[in-house]
Amino acid sequence: MSITDQIQKVRSEFRTDLANLSSENEAVDQIRIKYLGRKGLVATLFVEMGRVDTDERPKMGKILNELKSEITLEIDGFSTADLKLTDTDASDVDFTLPGDPIPVGSIHPLTQVMEEIKSIFLKLGFSLVYGPEIDTEFYNFEALNIPKHHPARDMQDTFYISDEVLLRTHTSDTQIHFMENNTPPVRIIAPGRVYRNEDVSVRSYCLFHQIEGLYVDKTVTFAELKGTLDYFARELFGKDVKTRFRPSYFPFTEPSAEMDVSCIFCKGKGCSICKKTGWLEILGCGMVDPEVYKSVKYDPDKWTGYAFGLGIERIAMLKYGVQDIRLFYSGDIRFLRQF
Ligand code: DAH
Repeated sequence: MSITDQIQKVRSEFRTDLANLSSENEAVDQIRIKYLGRKGLVATLFVEMGRVDTDERPKMGKILNELKSEITLEIDGFSTADLKLTDTDASDVDFTLPGDPIPVGSIHPLTQVMEEIKSIFLKLGFSLVYGPEIDTEFYNFEALNIPKHHPARDMQDTFYISDEVLLRTHTSDTQIHFMENNTPPVRIIAPGRVYRNEDVSVRSYCLFHQIEGLYVDKTVTFAELKGTLDYFARELFGKDVKTRFRPSYFPFTEPSAEMDVSCIFCKGKGCSICKKTGWLEILGCGMVDPEVYKSVKYDPDKWTGYAFGLGIERIAMLKYGVQDIRLFYSGDIRFLRQF
């Protein structure tokens, strides 16, 4: 029989032995000795090589070496798998296999931003309060000095449930609820959902989230408002961020302002996101209007304070580079997995 035939024979014998192999260590060892032992079949074939013509020998040697590593690999694989099984002392369970992955959820990006903002103000001594999402015109508008003819009252902006009852359009209603039931000093933040009857687009949705802030005490100044909100901006966006306050109008604050932060993308140089201005608008704020104190029966001559309101979605969009506000509410797992 030629050496090639002999190699072939050993190979097919090995295949048959392997197919019949049980997972007992002894049987594996027997096979190892039979093929790879000092006097095993592979060793015998190497002896046979001596008889092969010298010019044929390298080629045959190569084939034989391949057979040897093939058999070694198979037997090693068999015995390590087998070892692991017996090591665990549980014959039919392989504890070394990776487990079935359990999908772990992540915190919604809006909640993450909300939590971050809350923690900044809680550190400063603000307390958390929550107001109702279904409210009346009085709390949402009247008590906040928003007169009947104000555009914010327009049916197009507000979801009315009845003549008097509505879905709140901002968290400022919680200022009134809280002050009605508490005496100063007041230092609160009020996070929550608000609703507006707006056309749904990449920029606006029928609901969104805000955080309201209110601080009332004796001799509160605009400087304190600026200092607090400037600190907040640097905590949220980083120490290098600058702020600026632009005069604005809100019926419930006087004077009123809007706070911008230096663009977090171009560091104030001007880019497409900040529309080349170098600034991003973040929130509305101001000193509480005396009319508001009157509606909650605080003495406007005695009490001073500031208020602010910011939109969570806007900040989350800037922070995470989200281009379409609707993604936050879509429940699309591909979007949510990224946070
Ligand atoms: N309520 C305002 C809005 O929804 C935001 C706001 C502006 C709240 C100024 C305030 C404030 O407390 O002082 O647009």
